Amino acid sequence: MLTIKEPLIKKGLIFYTMEYADFCSALEAYPKPLAFVDLDALDENIQLVKERVKYKIPIRIATKSIRCVWILNYIREQLGELYAGLMAFSPEEAVWLCQKGFENIVIGYPYVHSQSLKNILAQNSAQKKIVVMVDLIEHLDRLQHIGWSEGKQFLVCVDLDMSTRFPFLYFGVYRSSIRTEKKLKEFLAYIRKCSHLRLVGAMGYEAQISGVQDIPLGKPFWAPIIRILKKNSIHSLTARRQKMIQIIKQTGFSLEFVNGGGTGSLESSLQDATLTEVTVGSAFFAPALFEGYSNFRHRPAAGFALEVTRNPEKGVYTCAGGGYVASGAAGMDKLPQPWLPQGASLIRNEGAGEVQTPIVTKELLRLGMPVIFRHAKAGELCERFNSLLLFRKGKVVQEVLTYRGEGKCFL
Ligand SMILES: Cc1ncc(COP(=O)(O)O)c(C=O)c1O
Repeated sequence: MLTIKEPLIKKGLIFYTMEYADFCSALEAYPKPLAFVDLDALDENIQLVKERVKYKIPIRIATKSIRCVWILNYIREQLGELYAGLMAFSPEEAVWLCQKGFENIVIGYPYVHSQSLKNILAQNSAQKKIVVMVDLIEHLDRLQHIGWSEGKQFLVCVDLDMSTRFPFLYFGVYRSSIRTEKKLKEFLAYIRKCSHLRLVGAMGYEAQISGVQDIPLGKPFWAPIIRILKKNSIHSLTARRQKMIQIIKQTGFSLEFVNGGGTGSLESSLQDATLTEVTVGSAFFAPALFEGYSNFRHRPAAGFALEVTRNPEKGVYTCAGGGYVASGAAGMDKLPQPWLPQGASLIRNEGAGEVQTPIVTKELLRLGMPVIFRHAKAGELCERFNSLLLFRKGKVVQEVLTYRGEGKCFL
C-alpha cells in the first residue's frame, strides 16, 4: 500500500500532522466554526498523487473537490509538468476560472442552457479553451445551433459510459448514454455533420472503481464482494474504453486527450495505456470517505473546527454548527467525522445538527475549546465556509477565500 511517509500521529489507520493541542493554541484567536487546510499535509498528498501515477501521466484537477482558487493555483504549481488542466463542474465556474487565469478547462458534465453555453464560446481563444461534455444527440443539436448563431465552434468531449452490468447488479453510475459501440458510432457520425463542433477529447470515468470504497466504513463484510466486483469491472471497462477510443480514432478524429480515473482508481487507470491524463480531486484534501480504500492512504489535509458551547452532562459536549452533511446516498458515512480530540464521536440519534452538534469524548473539555472534524467529501466543505485558514508547521500562516467567500455558488 502506498502511504504518506513518517506519520507523526496515528489514530486507527489515519495519520495526521497536528495534535489536538496544536489546534487549540493555533485556533484560539479565531471565531468558530472555521475551516482549514494543512499545507504540510496537502504537500504530502500532492507528492503521493505523483507517486501513485508513477510520474507517468498528467493530472487534471477536479475543481469540485477543491472549490478554492488559491488552493487550485497552489496544486497547479506543485504538480508542475504533471499538471494537465482543470475539470470544472459548471459553465459559469469554467468561465470564471478562465478569467482568473486557468487556460485548459474541461467541464466534466453536460449543460444545456443557451446563455451559459454562449458565455463559454466567448472565452475560447488560441490561449484559452473550455471543452464541453456531450453524450446525447440533443446535446450536439443545441451546441451546433448556438455555435452556428454565434459563428464560433465548440470544443467537445464525448463521455463514454464505464458502468458494468452484472446479471443482478448495475455497478456504476447513471450518466452517459453512450454504452455500446453501435451507439458511439452513430454519435460520431452525427458529430461529423456538425460544422460548429470539434471533437477534441474523450472521457471514460470509472466511478464504480474510483468512488466506491474497498472497505466501506462500518460495513467491512462487503469488502470481499466489492473486491470481486471491482476486479471484474476494471477488466471489462478497460477493454471497453480501449475499444471505444480505437473506434473514435478509426473514424478519423484525432483526440487531444483521453481522460479517465479519479482518486480511488489511479492504480488501475494507470494500466490503461489509452488514457492520456487522469482526473484527481479528493486525494488532495483526503476527506473521511477516502479512508476506506486498500491500496493508498492520504493524509487528512482539510477540516473544520467547532467551538464547545455547552456541556449537558459529563463526557458530552455540544458545539455550535456542524451539520455539513455530504451529498450522495444518505447514510452515516455522509456525516462529518469528529477527528480531534482523539476518540470523540457523534451521537447516533442526533448526528451533525443544523446549529448544534453534540459529541462524546473522554477528554475533559472547557467551553470555547475547539472540536476538529473532517468532512465526508472534499470540496463540499468550502460551500459552508467563506475562507480557509492555512496551516504551516502547526501555525496559521494565511487566510484564503473559498468559492463561497468570493460570492460564488455554482451548484
Ligand atoms: C468526471 C469525474 N472524473 C473524476 C472524478 C474523480 O474525482 P475525485 O478525485 O475527487 O474523486 C469525478 C468525481 O466524481 C468525476 O465526476
